[in-house]
Amino acid sequence: MNSLREQLSVDKFRNEKEKQQGLEAMFHGEKKFLTNGGMGAGFTEEEFCGAMAEAGFPSVYSAAVPGWKISQEPAGRQNSNNLREMNAEAIQSAATYLRQRCEYAIKGANFMEMLPSYSDSREEVIKSDAFDVLMLGAGMDEKLPARMAEANAELQRREPKRSLYYMPIVSSVLAAKAYYHRYAKRGKQPDSLRVPDGYYLELPIDEDENTAGGHLGFSKNRGLDPDAFDPAAILEGIRKFDKTSPVILAGGVAYRDQIQKALDMGFDGVSMGTRLLLTRESGMSDEQIIVKYLNELIGIIVDQNSSTGFWSSRLDVPYTERTDETMRDALLKCVNCVGSGCQYRKNRECPTDETYCIYRDLIKARLGEDVGIYFSGGQIVIMRHDSLYTSDGKPYVPTIEEGLDFTLTHDSPKKPKYSAETQAGPAAKNPNTPLAS
Ligand SMILES: Cc1cc2nc3c(=O)[nH]c(=O)nc-3n(C[C@H](O)[C@H](O)[C@H](O)COP(=O)(O)O)c2cc1C
Repeated sequence: MNSLREQLSVDKFRNEKEKQQGLEAMFHGEKKFLTNGGMGAGFTEEEFCGAMAEAGFPSVYSAAVPGWKISQEPAGRQNSNNLREMNAEAIQSAATYLRQRCEYAIKGANFMEMLPSYSDSREEVIKSDAFDVLMLGAGMDEKLPARMAEANAELQRREPKRSLYYMPIVSSVLAAKAYYHRYAKRGKQPDSLRVPDGYYLELPIDEDENTAGGHLGFSKNRGLDPDAFDPAAILEGIRKFDKTSPVILAGGVAYRDQIQKALDMGFDGVSMGTRLLLTRESGMSDEQIIVKYLNELIGIIVDQNSSTGFWSSRLDVPYTERTDETMRDALLKCVNCVGSGCQYRKNRECPTDETYCIYRDLIKARLGEDVGIYFSGGQIVIMRHDSLYTSDGKPYVPTIEEGLDFTLTHDSPKKPKYSAETQAGPAAKNPNTPLAS
């Protein structure tokens, strides 16, 4: 039996033909694979993708607010038009970089559909011609099956052997089915619609009550109950209507045994967020990895305070305090990142509201500032004890290669016991957390 690394890595392709064969093997269910979750804003950028490629794995670039550096511009320049422009520039610059560093590596791009800048960023990624797979979460794009068919027709007029693939990010059978049937098969001319090439199944919470990092894709009124997200049942449900497209599992995957279990269940691969965020090549600063992620006094919170209104899983550290001044400043610099659904803007007159401005506070984390939104999967409280994060008795931030190597060779330890003082167990501190008791 091949090692997990051999099973899940891809060859270093030498030309476009080899790469297209590699993609076909992945999307025809002949090759299992491991990849990273797209992490915005700016946590999985081009350097990160280049390092993934060199380690031998497909990578996913974050195309969700890639132009986050707009936050460094004067307040008057921070608006939605300039954000679109900076997003476009960032995507084209990443494409140029990746073509030079790893032209024939398999690369994906991640989008959040709910962002008003989504369709412009998607078009920019298609135009860049540097990515192979579009991964779309946080909403459903009804037009995507048609756009993907059109983009492929256009691409194949130029290069008949090439394809552009897409994988919706889903947390339920219903969401996967909606793409497959409602959106993808509705058209009169079948050729005008492309059904999903695969599915990225992100479990908001797993059976050990580990939450996935970042925003969690489940409806506002639904409890965060592990039984509702049984990966084997969801896979079986998807297989009823789509027998062959790859389904990869994400959320709470950070150890060899967890990967093996996913493969044994029949998944075609896995994706990891938090494990790969804790690397030198991610956009998270080494300092914040050490002082926050590896700090055993810091627990996890799952709440609905993001201006998107979604639940999210993050480190229990302070975000920007709500004062008249910080509110005014946020509204002055608003780039309309999440559109009309923004809860921060909506609740601005409500003094007890605890919503944070996701644009401001996530970018603060990207910039390594002390106060900000530090998204994390719940499993961090276990992972931070791994020998991977210590060298010569001191905290250590590994490279992607080291992180992958460790993950592919180490089983998950028993859960550490949490003391009431540290409150660092999964979602320990938030009284509103809807975990099943
Ligand atoms: C800092 C951070 C940012 C994230 N940003 C995004 C994003 O922009 N789009 C998205 O689809 N998922 C995002 N995610 C989710 C990851 O892509 C991934 O699916 C998730 O972290 C998997 O769970 P894990 O952290 O337990 O491995 C983010 C996660 C983290 C930790």
